Amino acid sequence: MTLLEVHSLAKTFHIHHLQREVPAFANVSFTLRAGEFLLVRGPNGIGKSTLLRCLYRTYLPSGGSAMYESRQGVIDLARAADVDIAQLRRTEIGNVSQFLRPRPRVSALDMVAEPLLAGNTAIDESRRMAGDWLADFGLKSDIWQAYPTTFSGGEQQKVNLARALIAPRRLLLLDEPTASLDAGARAALVSRLAQLKNQGVAMIGVFHHPEDVAKLVDGELQLRVH
Ligand SMILES: Nc1ncnc2c1ncn2[C@@H]1O[C@H](COP(=O)(O)OP(=O)(O)OP(=O)(O)O)[C@@H](O)[C@H]1O
Ligand SMILES: [Mg+2]
Repeated sequence: MTLLEVHSLAKTFHIHHLQREVPAFANVSFTLRAGEFLLVRGPNGIGKSTLLRCLYRTYLPSGGSAMYESRQGVIDLARAADVDIAQLRRTEIGNVSQFLRPRPRVSALDMVAEPLLAGNTAIDESRRMAGDWLADFGLKSDIWQAYPTTFSGGEQQKVNLARALIAPRRLLLLDEPTASLDAGARAALVSRLAQLKNQGVAMIGVFHHPEDVAKLVDGELQLRVH
């Protein structure tokens, strides 16, 4: 089943103080099916993160379409209303950024449990599963109740990943999720991604070390200078 059909997607930034348009990427087309993993490649500054942000709609694309087969029907991610995008983010489309945005006085365990609680899982079960994910990524249990504001970069990223992956999603966008992880956590992440892929979750990812995910990759999208 086709989950996402992207056609001639483009993003141009208007740089105000330069009074000009700067293209990030143009003419991107691909098809993604349930359970498929698309690796996005290209040099620094070519538009990889911008492409993922356009699909998650942190940025509004400048042109083209991204037809997503949601449970409610087909929706163009490039044009959909913000409320519909917000709904998809709660239920179907997940995004793993490079950095956690910790909030004051929210423990690591509760940050990870939050997406499950929002989906009406009971609090004890949400916390139990959150602990499961954190243990898997190797975050030591004596800091689960601590606030991630003071965590190291790698520890924050473990919380970030667990939070992004804990709730069921149909499409995951991954922007260099392994950049600050140790070898153990990288291996745990790859095995979790393999599990999700087997369950039919589709993924679009940028990886600093693509060899980490070589076994998961079904197709590659090479972004080029245009
Ligand atoms: N909000 C923004 N406003 C203006 N220009 C931007 C904005 N975000 C990104 N850009 C520009 O778009 C281009 C692509 O950036 P992007 O972050 O997508 O690259 P990337 O391929 O992810 O690079 P890297 O490998 O370094 O992560 C860059 O030239 C960048 O300066
Ligand atoms: Mg990037």
